[in-house]
Amino acid sequence: MQVKNKMNKIIYLDAAATYMKSDSVMGAQADFVREKYANSGRGVCARVAAVDDMVKGCRVAMAEFMNADADGIVFVSGTTDAMNRIVRIVQNTVGRWPLRVAVSDLDHHSARLPWMAAGADVVVCPLDKDFNIDASAIPVADVIVITAMSNVLGVPQDVKKIVASARKKNPDVIAIVDAAQFVVHADIDMRAWDADFVCWSGHKIGADNGIGVMAIKNPNRFMSDKFGGGMVNVVNLDGTFTVQNAPDKFEAGTLPLVQIAGLASAVKEIKNNRPKQALIKFLYDELSRIPRVRILTQPDAVLLSFVIDGMHVIDFGALMGAYDVCLRVGNMCATWIHNKMNLSGSIRVSVGAYNTMDEMKRFVEIVKNIVK
Ligand SMILES: Cc1ncc(COP(=O)(O)O)c(C=O)c1O
Repeated sequence: MQVKNKMNKIIYLDAAATYMKSDSVMGAQADFVREKYANSGRGVCARVAAVDDMVKGCRVAMAEFMNADADGIVFVSGTTDAMNRIVRIVQNTVGRWPLRVAVSDLDHHSARLPWMAAGADVVVCPLDKDFNIDASAIPVADVIVITAMSNVLGVPQDVKKIVASARKKNPDVIAIVDAAQFVVHADIDMRAWDADFVCWSGHKIGADNGIGVMAIKNPNRFMSDKFGGGMVNVVNLDGTFTVQNAPDKFEAGTLPLVQIAGLASAVKEIKNNRPKQALIKFLYDELSRIPRVRILTQPDAVLLSFVIDGMHVIDFGALMGAYDVCLRVGNMCATWIHNKMNLSGSIRVSVGAYNTMDEMKRFVEIVKNIVK
């Protein structure tokens, strides 16, 4: 992946927050804006038809990327947007409330808060001793929200097994997967997972902000949640209207076309060039030798989380910042897993395919300087 980032000597170790953008993504977007820009689905001229083709092509590419049906690929602004929208989609479809919603302590705030805010009956799936979702102990629920990979612990969850277990308890359960972190590191297989919804954000894989995917299994089974241009079929003068089939019924309004123009490039790049776990393993081995460092993650996790005895995580982050190292400190929008570990926050290092072993070595030197 070619990333010419203008941050010069900064060591950027926060891919899990947002991934650096490659030249091909920026190039695809610039080309669209300069040479091909028009709205989609709103005209009959060749230029609009070309934009329609671009959107369709990206949709098909996303379906292939996730082993899902193209009709169920809905462009959203990101995972948080999708998670909020799903609550309304489910409410409009099921017509019974409150529903019992199973969540887990691996959740990002974006996965659970929308259900809490809507007054759902939230029940928590237990974690096993290694902080993975215990597939053998899934409670009976109408909906299950599965975090495919925690943004603090960086371990893929056995989504297929968890969904199967939830369906054993309730064959009609609606299974929702937050793949915001998983998508960077491994192939999503929506069919194998047997999930009803799978969501992720483009900016986590090097696409632009403001674009994401909400993939829906059997999308025409679900009701629309947003209304307006593009999703409607016929508007009758008696006050009724009919909606298009999926995916249009979920895409009211103008799509984020510039971001869509870059999304397929980002997917292509990430498929060919995933972040290297060897860099994280190197940091794990090196930091394990520093007495005050307490590592929270497994050696084979895709990211490294830790705390330092006797030093607040915010102070550590500020000191690293003074050395031009960008990493994440705090509770990472993941209150529940920190609570489970009796911590108020942690320090997280996450890498993209653009990070190098030299950066890791420099990072270790700096940590040793700070944590004497
Ligand atoms: C696991 C997980 N879920 C959801 C989100 C929310 O993603 P976004 O802010 O792109 O909507 C994040 C972002 O960090 C995440 O790590």
